[in-house]
Amino acid sequence: MNPKKLLMLPGPTNVPERIMNAMLTPLMGHRTPDFAYLMKNIVEKSKQVYQTSGDVIVFSSSGTGAVEAAITNIVRKGDKTIVTVFGEFGERAALLVEASGGVAIKVEAPFGDVPRIDQLEEAFEKNKDVKALVIITNETSTGTMFKWLKEAGDLAAKYGSFLILDSVSNLTADDIPVDRIGADIVATGSQKSLAAPPGLAMVSVSKKAKKYIIDNPPSRLYFNIARHLKYAEIGQTPFTPALSLYYALDEALNMALEEGLNQRIQRHKLCADAFYSSFTAMGLKLFAVEEVRSNTIISVNYPEGVDDKQFRGMLDKDYRVVIAGGFGPYKGKLFRIGSLGEVHRYHVVTTVSAVNDTLSSLVGKTRSEDPVEIARTKLRDL
Ligand SMILES: Cc1ncc(COP(=O)(O)O)c(C=O)c1O
Repeated sequence: MNPKKLLMLPGPTNVPERIMNAMLTPLMGHRTPDFAYLMKNIVEKSKQVYQTSGDVIVFSSSGTGAVEAAITNIVRKGDKTIVTVFGEFGERAALLVEASGGVAIKVEAPFGDVPRIDQLEEAFEKNKDVKALVIITNETSTGTMFKWLKEAGDLAAKYGSFLILDSVSNLTADDIPVDRIGADIVATGSQKSLAAPPGLAMVSVSKKAKKYIIDNPPSRLYFNIARHLKYAEIGQTPFTPALSLYYALDEALNMALEEGLNQRIQRHKLCADAFYSSFTAMGLKLFAVEEVRSNTIISVNYPEGVDDKQFRGMLDKDYRVVIAGGFGPYKGKLFRIGSLGEVHRYHVVTTVSAVNDTLSSLVGKTRSEDPVEIARTKLRDL
């Protein structure tokens, strides 16, 4: 058995005890009124965090399932689809478009930055009849965030395209008002900003997307949104749901709504800001361009001479703080901290302190300011 560790990963995150305990609720039949009641509650609460009056579907899968459902239920053979690519998850979305027989039109930005609205507009202008625009709202692989969601929604509406969002890592941590943006399908996962265990994923479905999918059901079984919508009418899922995780998700949604969405978003901003300020004070170079830095994933370049495996190994062994490394070409070049879900002053100050001590022992102190004090001060009122 692992000793308890502070999981400062970009998911899975630390899960509050209330949520873990919810999973001890005895199982129920999934074709019973009891389950219909649970499902109704989860959907109602999910609609609040999605800020939508549309439908919400829960899949017993990881986040990728929701992204796959979002793309494959809309994109069909030959459909042109614009995809923002500024990290691994954008690349995967483009792959899903191609796997659906669609044509992925990549709108790219160097990793560490994000594409801008004028790049998206240019792509719409150059390519008539674009079926869908897919945006990764928070690129977990690089720690960057696409901020112009309302403008993107307006663009999609102007060009008559569906808008699909991969918000797997930042729904409830950042403001993603689905209806106001005009987003058609928004994917998220349980183990990120919602602070539940991994294993469930959700999509919101707009009225427009619902009509399209019901009129043109996809030729697939498990991630078939039309099928899920039909079963939802009688408070069921087409396939056996991961019941214990449903209890956890229900409690995670209770916690999010008790805290209040605005308060939760503010907390994530404050914690991210404290991380960024403390790491800057340590003399570290932040990976993402300042304007588009994520409020949930803190990406930091390693100083010269620090070995990724050794550094993260020391954090884990000496402080029981677990963080992530870089992705793909950035493996070994940067570390990433998940500041999401269950993240408060304790998590930030402990992590900053552990990183500071570990780096000091590896490369020596670089600055005279106390980064731990900076984090503490920044989060004084949290
Ligand atoms: C933006 C984004 N999309 C999709 C995924 C895939 O989610 P999962 O690993 O739960 O399948 C992740 C996971 O990190 C993510 O951050």
